[in-house]
Amino acid sequence: MTSAHETVPAGRTAPHLVAEPPAIRFEGVTKRFGRDTLALDDVSAEFAAGRITVLLGLSGSGKSTLLRHINGLQQPTSGAVTTLGTRVDGARDHSLKGLRRSVSMVFQHFNLVGPMSVLENVCSGRLGSLTGPRMGLFMYPRTVRQEAMEQLARVGLADKAFVRADALSGGQKQRVAIARALIQHPAVLLADEPVASLDPVSSASVIDLLGRIAREEDLTVVCSLHQVEIALGFADRIVGLRAGRVVLDTETAGLSRAEAYSIYDTVAAAGDAGEGAGVRAADAALAREA
Ligand SMILES: Nc1ncnc2c1ncn2[C@@H]1O[C@H](COP(=O)(O)OP(=O)(O)OP(=O)(O)O)[C@@H](O)[C@H]1O
Ligand SMILES: [Mg+2]
Repeated sequence: MTSAHETVPAGRTAPHLVAEPPAIRFEGVTKRFGRDTLALDDVSAEFAAGRITVLLGLSGSGKSTLLRHINGLQQPTSGAVTTLGTRVDGARDHSLKGLRRSVSMVFQHFNLVGPMSVLENVCSGRLGSLTGPRMGLFMYPRTVRQEAMEQLARVGLADKAFVRADALSGGQKQRVAIARALIQHPAVLLADEPVASLDPVSSASVIDLLGRIAREEDLTVVCSLHQVEIALGFADRIVGLRAGRVVLDTETAGLSRAEAYSIYDTVAAAGDAGEGAGVRAADAALAREA
């Protein structure tokens, strides 16, 4: 076996030394809304394939905006975004269709169709790759319905397949949304505060499920969260945003709670000496949101 120190003949590169390109790359990305709002401020970051990155930051720090740039739901004012080898910035919507099939998204409010059955909601994850209108479960090919059942079993909800989605609890709804995301066979999974509407027990179980599935499918996950403790247990890497700027970008292993909370240091809190300043700023901010 070739070692990292072994000499490689000129003009050749040992295969294991070729760095895999990141699944997602931001280069100097700035996003302005109108004149006054700088939502992303010169963000450069890479998201490695197969890893879980959590975005932390106060409300308004730019987490959702960053996520929406990954699949071109929003376009940067300047800078470049490349996802799975596709240049997203400047691309027209129709040319991003292929990319969007490989990038699934789950949301805080689940975005299920309430009166529709759970199974049909999962099937709808395939709409991007089917042609023609789909109205009713039986308009989906049998193979899609079968896979939807399998995905529901995977998230522990096979017995709810024919129940209306709006009859489920929040935690169950988010599991359905995860099954809907998976039936797309994505390479990248974006999650925008997926547990913000859930109680602590449901939050923990949805995050466990996301983590397990991400490992099984080797998914690249970028997930915004407000719960530092959950982030520390879930993420391989933490990216902290403050007023649109990356203020922390580090592996989670070895990251202390205080360092993670320092992301929340506001200008006022930064003047408040001591490592608890960030914790207090975050607690105050979260209390305001509650
Ligand atoms: N469509 C929009 N039009 C105008 N301003 C926007 C828009 N989307 C976001 N913003 C502004 O951009 C900034 C970043 O917002 P963003 O939603 O990305 O923050 P966030 O970190 O996701 O916050 P939260 O934790 O509350 O979800 C905020 O000042 C917000 O008001
Ligand atoms: Mg947000």
